[in-house]
Amino acid sequence: MEVIIAPVDQQARLAADAIEALLRRDDDSTLGLATGSSPLAVYGELIHRHEQHGLSFARARGFMLDEYVGLPADHPQRYHNVIAEELADRVHWDAERVHGPDGLAADIPAACADYERALARAGGVDLQLLGIGTDGHIGFNEPGSSLSSRTRIKSLAPQTRADNARFFGGDVDKVPVHCVTQGLGTISEARHLVLLASGRHKAEAVHQLVEGPISALWPATVMQLHPHATVLVDEAAASRL
Ligand code: GLP
Repeated sequence: MEVIIAPVDQQARLAADAIEALLRRDDDSTLGLATGSSPLAVYGELIHRHEQHGLSFARARGFMLDEYVGLPADHPQRYHNVIAEELADRVHWDAERVHGPDGLAADIPAACADYERALARAGGVDLQLLGIGTDGHIGFNEPGSSLSSRTRIKSLAPQTRADNARFFGGDVDKVPVHCVTQGLGTISEARHLVLLASGRHKAEAVHQLVEGPISALWPATVMQLHPHATVLVDEAAASRL
């Protein structure tokens, strides 16, 4: 695992460099998309490169990590809508090419299996962007998730619902209780994992990720097993290393 300590703007440029190289090299690239605050600077950098340097997403596919269960289709916090607003629409990425787990399916287990098949048909993910929860989750794989888990429905940990209440007007009761997430096994199949973290509140999770024993109690530690994992952290998030 490669750990790079750099301020957020530099993290964003490094991650965008890797994504740009992929998009320019490969006609059929597949980018793994994450939500939350951590990837926002990367998306900002990609939008800049699209607008100023013609970086094109036209031939790329996107696959999202996770989705809330039960949020109405037009809810602004539904991750499909968040990704459209923060990246896809801004880089004129055809919505048909950007996929996410279906949190509104009548049969969620069947929709999860469909999502796994769609990922496989696309040839897997070339580069997966990741944030990390304060409890060490990636995607929405909360502590206790099997390291070989696949896309499935999960309950959100109280800590994660409290952390994410800021996106729901500060009201934790408005945060959904369930989500659908790619599993740790699914995420691990991406050819390159790029995790971003900043702020002192991430320091314990980053410490466990990099230096802790591999354990389902800190799901991100599964990255230690990956042959190509990059961790981009600022000084505050790196303060316990
Ligand atoms: C959310 C998302 C994760 C994200 C994490 C960290 O719960 N499902 O994919 O990595 O929280 O969020 P943030 O980057 O806002 O700290």
